[in-house]
Amino acid sequence: MLMHPVAFFDTKPYDRQSFAQAAGTDGIAWSFHEFRLGAGTLAGVDGARAVCVFVNDKLDRAVLAALAATGVKHVALRCAGFNNVNLDAARELGLVVTRVPAYSPHAVAEHTVALLQTLNRKIHRAYNRVREQNFSLKGLVGFDLYGKTVGISGTGKIGRLVAKIFLGYGCKLIAYDPFPDATWAAANEVEYVPFPDLLARSDVVTLHLPLTPESHHLLNAETLAMMKPGAYLVNTSRGKLIDTTALLQHLKSGHLGGVALDVYEEEEGLFFEDHSGEILQDDELNLLLSFANVIITSHQAFLTHEALSAIASVTVENLVRVAAGQPPLAGTAL
Ligand code: NAI
Repeated sequence: MLMHPVAFFDTKPYDRQSFAQAAGTDGIAWSFHEFRLGAGTLAGVDGARAVCVFVNDKLDRAVLAALAATGVKHVALRCAGFNNVNLDAARELGLVVTRVPAYSPHAVAEHTVALLQTLNRKIHRAYNRVREQNFSLKGLVGFDLYGKTVGISGTGKIGRLVAKIFLGYGCKLIAYDPFPDATWAAANEVEYVPFPDLLARSDVVTLHLPLTPESHHLLNAETLAMMKPGAYLVNTSRGKLIDTTALLQHLKSGHLGGVALDVYEEEEGLFFEDHSGEILQDDELNLLLSFANVIITSHQAFLTHEALSAIASVTVENLVRVAAGQPPLAGTAL
């Protein structure tokens, strides 16, 4: 069988596992690299006809030109976001670029509520205490989600699933989306309101919208000030939706009740890697980590078996199709 060489960058053990289990990999000769693809690591391509990359590989014009010059035909992103690829350059160079537009919205929706409830019910603190035989309940008081108003900003695939879960808790749901869906809202007891009203009325605000030039720092000094005193803010979408400096001010003043984050404005270069034992140079992250009412996970909302296997199967199918000169799966080409 003619083998199709694919260079796989920024490999983690869970990637290898899910890609090894995906159907259709028999004809692929993988070269797994733990390092990322960038100008300094082009040697890792080593004759491959396709590269498989993730969110932090850098595919600027120079890197893409070097890939094309060595015979690479296909850049397969195993993620939804593509802000790390110069698409204009890829087009000019005749490279096929594909991504996985949706894998498991359930994974992100479920992590969103898990993160909020961990913070609210202080599960992370209780876990540590009990392991040290400290069975005191001091400082562990949370609140019932039942009856609270939850504001969902962005009612796409993930926002809608989040709404369903909160509905199960008995919450009152309000939402903002520039493209509201009245039929869905009516069927799910959701009231669309203007964004400032959502901020003023919600006990919990949760963000499920894409990062665009318009939504950059959507939560800033002015909009954070509109939030109800004591409200909780949850962000599992993109770090740059929140102005961290302003967020810190609203935490220090005690205005916000709690902040649960799976993403952080300056996460690039930090998240997904083990930096324990190093001195963290990001002062704002250091400060955020010091608040008892802040919980942070490192962009892991997508990390379920189901999501990883969906990512692997779409990516492998596209690698096989493009290698055979066929068009990629519908909706995956950029
Ligand atoms: P989607 O495209 O299905 O829905 C996004 C919704 O946001 C749309 O209804 C859109 O109209 C709305 N929207 C756009 N601009 C808005 C604004 N300014 N204010 C309020 N709503 C606005 O996207 P999906 O699949 O629900 O994903 C949402 C976000 O979740 C993604 O953009 C991504 O940033 C994030 N995500 C995070 C992951 C993680 O591991 N933490 C994994 C996957 C996605």
